[in-house]
Amino acid sequence: IACFKLEYKISIGNELNMEKLRIVGGNKLSGSISCSGAKNAALPMLAATILTDQKITFKNLPYLQDITTMFEILGSMGAEITLNEGMDFIISTSKLHDFEARYELVKTMRASILVLGSLVARYGFARIALPGGCAIGTRPVDFHLDALAKLGAKIELKNGYIEATAKKLIGCDINFPGVSVTGTENIMMAAVLAKGQTILRNVAKEPEVEDLANFLNSMGAKIKGAGSDEIIIDGVDNLNGTKFSIPADRIEAGTYLVAAAITGGNVTISNVQAPRMNNILDKLKLSGATINIGKDNIQLSMKKGSILPVDISTAPFPGFPTDMQAQFTVLNALSKGSSVVTENVFENRFMHVQELNRMGCDITVKGSNAFVKGVGSLNGAPVMATDLRASASLILAGLCANGETIVDRIYHIDRGYERIEEKLSYLGADITR
Ligand code: UD1
Repeated sequence: IACFKLEYKISIGNELNMEKLRIVGGNKLSGSISCSGAKNAALPMLAATILTDQKITFKNLPYLQDITTMFEILGSMGAEITLNEGMDFIISTSKLHDFEARYELVKTMRASILVLGSLVARYGFARIALPGGCAIGTRPVDFHLDALAKLGAKIELKNGYIEATAKKLIGCDINFPGVSVTGTENIMMAAVLAKGQTILRNVAKEPEVEDLANFLNSMGAKIKGAGSDEIIIDGVDNLNGTKFSIPADRIEAGTYLVAAAITGGNVTISNVQAPRMNNILDKLKLSGATINIGKDNIQLSMKKGSILPVDISTAPFPGFPTDMQAQFTVLNALSKGSSVVTENVFENRFMHVQELNRMGCDITVKGSNAFVKGVGSLNGAPVMATDLRASASLILAGLCANGETIVDRIYHIDRGYERIEEKLSYLGADITR
């Protein structure tokens, strides 16, 4: 953690963090960058380290604020986290003495709830602060709690905390009332050490759910069907340590591809898995981009000023990811025509629109739709980031805007993008922290 803090000057959940990004727009992006490990794959795997007393080694763990927050949670419980010379992280949870995720940490990252399933499965007890409302809607955790109760845990809500207890979880048949990514992951982690078989229906099919299943199976779990609607888990008594490399972040890669498209650039992103990005790549092609897919890279080129509008409607995987909605709103805002962007996964996920309109976009939000009229150019402005992907969209807009854009509250961007200003500078953007 100290290494993270020193190198990237990230401060944990510090509302007073005064860092800003300054972008001078107009540069075409070109060149090649490497994609980092996926935040949403890494977070549940870190939570799953609780399931074994043996050491787990992670390769390609991204340097992100959310990862640091998960380290803080594990560290506060007694986990040992070390970094070896090869920059692999080695985690041991063999000496956990506390089974609690405190409010100060949970409030900065809702995904903290991911430790619930592992703690109850391994130690029979967990105390996790209830995540409050957040910038992109209410985001309840009822699916997680109801499913854990079906596995036999007693759930109580006390003083703003969830307390879950169980002597031994018992496998059962669970039908999720709605599709939840972290809900599926949490219950998968709980069920791997349960007695007997658990069948999870109506689960999330996101690639990161499959990644977690592969990770848990490499620890000795018996999980089948991840990536489909139904996951079958045969409980085991113990899990082993393992060595695992975090797969590439499809949302990070998608964000840089949009950056290339809107600046009329030519960019190659390496270390990616293109098949899990079809929903994003198909829309980029419809917007007029030329895309070449290599063995583990994607190259995108686009003629400046030739973006075609594309309607977007977000949905659970394999649908279009809500985490790319804000970035495609900017792409459409710079297109030659009108489009509709529909947000179906979260309520209230158009907070970037007001800030984008201050930069000259013409976007009207009505309910879950944003009606976007393409404009020829944008103007730089001081803007404020409101959540992770919203901040990405403001940076993208800044890359194309005339003059200077200052993005405030960039601690949101550090939660999910590794060294964004370094990567963009490397591609030729004028951006400084
Ligand atoms: C995960 C991702 C996030 C992404 C989202 C949707 C991680 C760490 N985060 O978030 O980046 O934007 O998936 O792809 O992987 N819901 C309930 N009750 C619940 C759980 C969810 O009603 O108990 C609702 C939510 O309010 C939302 C929808 O289900 O409307 C989907 O949310 P969910 O898939 O759970 O999102 P997260 O797992 O939090």
